[in-house]
Amino acid sequence: MNEYIFIDKWKIIENRYRPERTRAGESLFSIGNGVMGGRANFEERFSGDTLQGNYIGGVYYPDKTRVGWWKNGYPESFAKMLNSAFWCGVDVTVAGESIDLAVCRVADYYRELDMRTGTLLRRVSLTTPSGRRVDIEALRFVSMERPELGVLRYTVTLPDRSAEVTLESFIDGDVRNEDANYDEKFWRPVSQSRCGLVMQTLKSGFVVGWAMENRIDGASFIDTGRTECPAETATVTVEAGGSVTLYKFVGICSSLNHESSDIAEAAARVADRAASAGFDVVSEEHKAGWASIWDNADIEIEGDDEAQQGIRYCIFQLLQTYTGRDSRLNVGPKGFTGEKYGGGTYWDTEAYCLPFYMATAGREVARNLLLYRYNQLDAAIENARKLGFDGGAALYPMVTVDGSECHNEWEITFEEIHRNGAVAYAIYNYVRYTGDSDYIAGYGLEVLISIARFWAQRVNFSAPKGKYVMLGVTGPNEYENNVNNNWYTLYIARWCMRYAAESAERVRSERPDDYRRIEEKRGFDYEAETARWREICDNMYFPYDAENDIFLQQDGYMDKKQMLVCDLPASERPINQKWSWDRILRSCFIKQADVLQGLYFFRDDFDVDTIKRNFRFYEPRTVHESSLSPCVHAVLAAAIGDTRKAEEMYLRTSRLDLDDYNNENREGLHITSMAGSWLAVVEGFGGMRVEGDRLVFSPSLPDAWHSMTFKVRFRGKRLTVMATKDGAVVSEEERSTF
Ligand code: BGC
Repeated sequence: MNEYIFIDKWKIIENRYRPERTRAGESLFSIGNGVMGGRANFEERFSGDTLQGNYIGGVYYPDKTRVGWWKNGYPESFAKMLNSAFWCGVDVTVAGESIDLAVCRVADYYRELDMRTGTLLRRVSLTTPSGRRVDIEALRFVSMERPELGVLRYTVTLPDRSAEVTLESFIDGDVRNEDANYDEKFWRPVSQSRCGLVMQTLKSGFVVGWAMENRIDGASFIDTGRTECPAETATVTVEAGGSVTLYKFVGICSSLNHESSDIAEAAARVADRAASAGFDVVSEEHKAGWASIWDNADIEIEGDDEAQQGIRYCIFQLLQTYTGRDSRLNVGPKGFTGEKYGGGTYWDTEAYCLPFYMATAGREVARNLLLYRYNQLDAAIENARKLGFDGGAALYPMVTVDGSECHNEWEITFEEIHRNGAVAYAIYNYVRYTGDSDYIAGYGLEVLISIARFWAQRVNFSAPKGKYVMLGVTGPNEYENNVNNNWYTLYIARWCMRYAAESAERVRSERPDDYRRIEEKRGFDYEAETARWREICDNMYFPYDAENDIFLQQDGYMDKKQMLVCDLPASERPINQKWSWDRILRSCFIKQADVLQGLYFFRDDFDVDTIKRNFRFYEPRTVHESSLSPCVHAVLAAAIGDTRKAEEMYLRTSRLDLDDYNNENREGLHITSMAGSWLAVVEGFGGMRVEGDRLVFSPSLPDAWHSMTFKVRFRGKRLTVMATKDGAVVSEEERSTF
């Protein structure tokens, strides 16, 4: 635990102003509504160190690739989620002095993120350089009910002396991305008016409009004429002990949802309607939106408030990042909280996030996550074609926004191909959980066929082994590259080909019309292709270590000097910061679950002893230097009855950002690993699994937890599961659709 963030079951609270933690605080207090979101930058002018960040889902810029040594096959660009206009700006001047927290003396400071209501509140008492006391209270949210609306209530109080206060409400479009490869600006202004701004992204051509309505009781506003920064000011005399409150309503509309020519008007309409409804109304609507979200997604932990705050924070951030309203959007590893990873989609979505959204937000939301990949299938086929595959084989990108590959490190872009398996696995996982087998005939089969085609071309027959092998890959453990026969990749590849063949067979016999459509669209030759896949599957090579009776991570792994993480001095960890890359590659240390990732996905294929043996071998060699690692270990540890280990692993994820374990939350939050924390609680401690058409629970709670209650949706029902040390009680509420 750190002493910076207070333990509270529903709130994230900081009550000290620590300038050196400005960026960290901006990340931690981020707000979003699944469509847009941003960092908790101060509303008023701030000359200290800050990472400005306001992001609109699906609006990106293809930043030209920058690499030291170009390799054929690298993508030309990296699509980046853009830092967009800062919509909630308010510059404050009191008796001619402008308010800037980096310049004023801050006496009291309090900031809270209320997770129950999705609102960000900040109270500051400060003294200006000339000695005048000023109090500020700012409350803002991006509406859950009106997805194109941002709202701010901003109050300035003068505790001891009256003065003229000028509030300049602005929208600043003059913004950049810190991680721009060539330091270019990504936006060009299209038009500007007193209260609105329309901008277009360069190259990708997205048009976004912002429009504001400002209200101060009894005051009128005048235009400032700032360029790229519409602003209007109001000046009022505030008596000693009195205050002035600005209400700001901002409509933010993009060409994803509107005709470009209508955007200015659409944004103005959103702002105007909200202003007419008034702050109280839009704020209540927003709170009601969050209340119904929590009603479906909350986890209550009795007996451990730190764990309680940790898991609620994870759920809150996940639901701020993605609400599933739009199948063009997805879940970036940093969500709307920072620029790292470019806001792109990784295998994180299918491997870690899908179960969370499926169980808490429902079937349609989960389906939208799958449709995102379905809609990008042709781009994945093109991606594979560029690398030399043919016949409609698809390789989904390592990182993408629009379906094209963005990643450009050969050992990952070309080799970390297991991601293709996760896309297929998500289809299986979705159908297994929701029972929506229509998805396969409607969409899934095309994806499965295209992925199976890729694997069938990616293996080759080894004459000496008399088996199919897969050479030159990077497994989930990115601390080794270009390995031969990574067990996990082989296993998921074989599973994909089998699942694709079975699915094709089923659709062919049960849904002949769909089958004919798919056959024609994808040029599918059932007999020849499935025979080939089956032949490969029946003759696939899997590395195995007889001495330890474990699946071997890849050929040659045992040739490495075997060491355990507990033998590493603390001063040498994390190894990715302390060791040369060469030393990491040659060591036996594993970045994240690799063989164990396979045992997690395909648990039904293995008995508990097999899982135990592999867990006991690999976990002690794993440094968990990806935030995605501990959760898989937590679930497996619980499955083999090692609750203590499960708890140790769980604690590493659930408060990773709150406690800033890796000293990096200033860059943004680890959104996708937050889904892993949910997995650790629900699938780990709750022991939730699908068996046929049933959900089963076998809880094993950490010592400190008296009970845990969580909600899941399953096959048209809403279940509340209360788990204690004695077992689980499941109650069910019938609902017509989910
Ligand atoms: C992990 C990948 C993950 C990526 C984005 C990397 O550090 O090794 O598995 O997809 O981060 O979260």
